[in-house]
Amino acid sequence: MTFKPANNIQDLQYFGEFGGVNPSISDSSTYTFLSAKTMFDTFEGNADGCYLYSRHSSPSNLYLGEALAAMEGTETATVTASGMGAITPVILQLCDAGDHVVSSRTIYGGTYAFLKNFTPRLGISTTFVDITKLDTVEAAITPTTKILYCESVSNPLLEVADIKGLAAIAKKHNLKLVVDNTFSPLSISPINLGADIVVHSLTKFINGSSDTVGGVVCGTHELINDLRNVNSGAAMLLGSTMDSLRSASVLKNLRTLHIRMMQHSHNATYLAEQFENDGLKTVYPGLASHPSHELFKSMMNEKYGFGGMMTIDVGSLDKANALMEMMQERNLGYLAVSLGFYKTLFSAPGSSTSSEIPEDEQEAMGLSDGLIRFSIGLDADIERTYKTMKACMKELNIL
Ligand SMILES: Cc1ncc(COP(=O)(O)O)c(C=O)c1O
Repeated sequence: MTFKPANNIQDLQYFGEFGGVNPSISDSSTYTFLSAKTMFDTFEGNADGCYLYSRHSSPSNLYLGEALAAMEGTETATVTASGMGAITPVILQLCDAGDHVVSSRTIYGGTYAFLKNFTPRLGISTTFVDITKLDTVEAAITPTTKILYCESVSNPLLEVADIKGLAAIAKKHNLKLVVDNTFSPLSISPINLGADIVVHSLTKFINGSSDTVGGVVCGTHELINDLRNVNSGAAMLLGSTMDSLRSASVLKNLRTLHIRMMQHSHNATYLAEQFENDGLKTVYPGLASHPSHELFKSMMNEKYGFGGMMTIDVGSLDKANALMEMMQERNLGYLAVSLGFYKTLFSAPGSSTSSEIPEDEQEAMGLSDGLIRFSIGLDADIERTYKTMKACMKELNIL
C-alpha cells in the first residue's frame, strides 16, 4: 500500500480542554501529582499519561511529536528547540567515545561542523563520503561505526540519497541510518524506505513561516525514551526543549504543509525548467538532467513533487551578489539564509550556510562561488515572477 503521510496527519484528531478545535496549550513548566507514589513512578519512566516537568515532556510537545511521527511513519517522536537540537542529541545518544560515524559530505554546514569540529573532542570521529556512491559508503565503515548519516536531499547541492541502498548497508553492518529529511517533507518518507531515524529542522518547510526555529527526532519508542531518560538522555540532559506555545503554533502550520509543498514544488519546477531552457546551469531534482532524477522519482510519494529547493550557477560570487540584491529590491524575495518560507529566499551557500566547509572541500564537492540557492516561495503567479527574474538577469548580463 502506498504511504500517505498527509492523510496520517489529517486523521489525528485532538480536542482542546474545552472542546476547542485546537488542543489546549500546556502553559506550565511543572505538573502536580495527587500522590507521591505517582511522582516516583514518573521519574522511573513508568507512569504513562503523567507529566513531570516540561523539559522532559509536555502535552503540547507530545501533540506535535505524535503528528510528526504519523507523518514519518515512526512509533513516536520528540520535538526540540531547533533542528540542531534534534541532530546533536541523536548522535550523542548513539555514539560513545571511540565510536565512528560515516556521513555524507554534502550536509547542512552546522551538522558538518558538529561532526568535524565538535564530536572529536568527545572521541567520536567521522568519515565524510560521497553519499551517492554506495561502494565508497560501505568502504568507509569500520568496526566502531555506529551511524550512517545523510540528508534525503542534500544541502545545498541537492544530491539525493539512495535511502533503500543505504538502509541495506546499515542493516548489514548493524548501523543506525539517520536521515535528515528537512528538504523533502511528505515527498520522501525515509522510514518507509528502510531508515531507522528521521530528523527535521522544523524551522523550514514544516513550520513554513520563518517565525521560529524547531526540530524533531522521529524513531522508535526505545530511542525516544532513551533520549528523554532523566539520567542518561541526551535530549533531556542537554535541554534543547521546544516551548509549548511554539509547538502549538508549529502544529497549526503542519496542517497546511501538504498544500504548501505542492505549490513550492509547482513553482520551483516551473522556474527550473525555464532557467534551464535559458541556458543557465540549473540544479533541481525534478529536471531530467539531474543525476538523481530517476532515483528521486523511485522514492517519492505521489502529489508533493520534487520540493522547493533549486540552485543556479551565475558564474561568479560578484554576479551572484548583484543578482540577489537586485531581486530583493524588486520584491522577488529576500536575500536570507534558511528555506521553506512563503516568500522566495536566496543566498550564496559558499559564503553563508556552507561557509563552515573549507574552501578546498567546497571545490571538491562542486560548491562553486557563483552558486545561488533558492527556496522558492508560494507565489500565486510564477510566470510573472519568472519574467521579473529574467529581466534582472538580462540587466546584469547573466543571460
Ligand atoms: C538540512 C538542514 N538540517 C538541519 C538544519 C539545522 O536546523 P536549525 O537551524 O533549525 O537548528 C538546517 C538549517 O539550516 C538544515 O538546512
